[in-house]
Amino acid sequence: MSVDTMSSEGLRDAMVDELVADHAAKGLTMRPEVEAALRTVPRELYTPGVPPEEAYRSDTAVITKRHGDETISSVSAPWLIAEMLGQAADALDGGLTGRHVLEIGSGGYNASLLRELVGPSGSVTTVDIDPEVAERAVACLAAAGYGDVTVVCADAEQPIGPSRRFDLIIVTAGAWDIPPAWIAQLGEGGVLVAPLRTFGMTRSWALRRVGDRLVSQSQRLCGFVAMQGTGAHEVRYVDIAEGVHLRLDEGQQVSAESVGGLLSQPREQVWAEVSLPPRTVLADLDLWLAARLADEVDQVVVLSAQQEAVDADVVTPAWRFGTPAALHEGTFFYRSALRWADDLFDLGACAHGPNAAAAAGQMVAHMRTWVDAGQPAPVLHVLPAQAPDGDLPAGTVLDKRHSRLVLTFTPA
Ligand SMILES: C[S@@+](CC[C@H](N)C(=O)[O-])C[C@H]1O[C@@H](n2cnc3c(N)ncnc32)[C@H](O)[C@@H]1O
Repeated sequence: MSVDTMSSEGLRDAMVDELVADHAAKGLTMRPEVEAALRTVPRELYTPGVPPEEAYRSDTAVITKRHGDETISSVSAPWLIAEMLGQAADALDGGLTGRHVLEIGSGGYNASLLRELVGPSGSVTTVDIDPEVAERAVACLAAAGYGDVTVVCADAEQPIGPSRRFDLIIVTAGAWDIPPAWIAQLGEGGVLVAPLRTFGMTRSWALRRVGDRLVSQSQRLCGFVAMQGTGAHEVRYVDIAEGVHLRLDEGQQVSAESVGGLLSQPREQVWAEVSLPPRTVLADLDLWLAARLADEVDQVVVLSAQQEAVDADVVTPAWRFGTPAALHEGTFFYRSALRWADDLFDLGACAHGPNAAAAAGQMVAHMRTWVDAGQPAPVLHVLPAQAPDGDLPAGTVLDKRHSRLVLTFTPA
């Protein structure tokens, strides 16, 4: 059957088959109950006006609201929804059945999947800051037969109701910090799944509540529309050359001119001389590099580039959508594109500036340590802002507005 003539059910099954294959390619296994929910909920009813073939693309979000060039609301991409639901179910002992769930950021589709997963003895509440989005979610949920999902219009930075407690809070907008309300609304052992930016890089973290702190159980590479309201935290970009940008965190200052000037100086390329298989989780390496370099360099930043700039060899980043980079004593350096030999690859770093060879060598040394240590995966600990230093686990500390984040690493 051609895509043109495929029924919604056929499109849905094809999408889920792709999602199962995508999981397998990443070394993940989709839980059967998540697969069953994905095969049940009619996604096209949450994307009115969009051709069903687009609604059922496994790798694409459907944009539902923009402010100028910026996307402020969407029905999230199925691959990401599927991974986050898997993270939630894995992190909750006994899975999702009978759980009480709060979703932050509404579109209706994910809330319906959650409704399927928690079953009749559970409940789903979804909150959105935007009245238009909330109204739309109410209408779509009713049309799809999920009218028992509660939709609230509010800024989720604050608790949605006095003394409400949830087993799971799943956040579907990009956060920079963990507001106290999210921890306070979780029961002991409850799980928060949230896309959180650390060192300018966003990961979906599944975090379990233990007393007044959270400890991560898993994390996945992801991207989301930005959080609005009192927890909004603008991402700033500095253009350092045509099609080449640095993503900066709060308080960071970079002179576009001076870093741009460095790019015209000779490039030093250093290799780690390692041989790694394609499934190596380089997102873990990137957080390792940022955490290690944070104490050693003037600034850790994120490099991104347009394809044209990469093709023109202006920069050769490992991943053009966000590669860890650093500035130190007038030298700029970053993780460079992989070097393949047969089916294995080597890691490398590029540098420009007066200490280019040493800087690239420093980054590569951290890559080798990561490989020698068994490619450790990051673990995130979230503590209240007032936690004394003595209470923090040994790791890299990132102080945010409401919380103290500590990154530690455990061998895979
Ligand atoms: C990617 S969309 C949600 C997708 C949805 N969960 C789905 O089923 O596909 C992100 C939503 O988060 C909402 N949002 C952003 N900041 C918020 C906040 N502080 N409180 C509640 N909702 C917020 C936006 O209005 C937007 O509709």
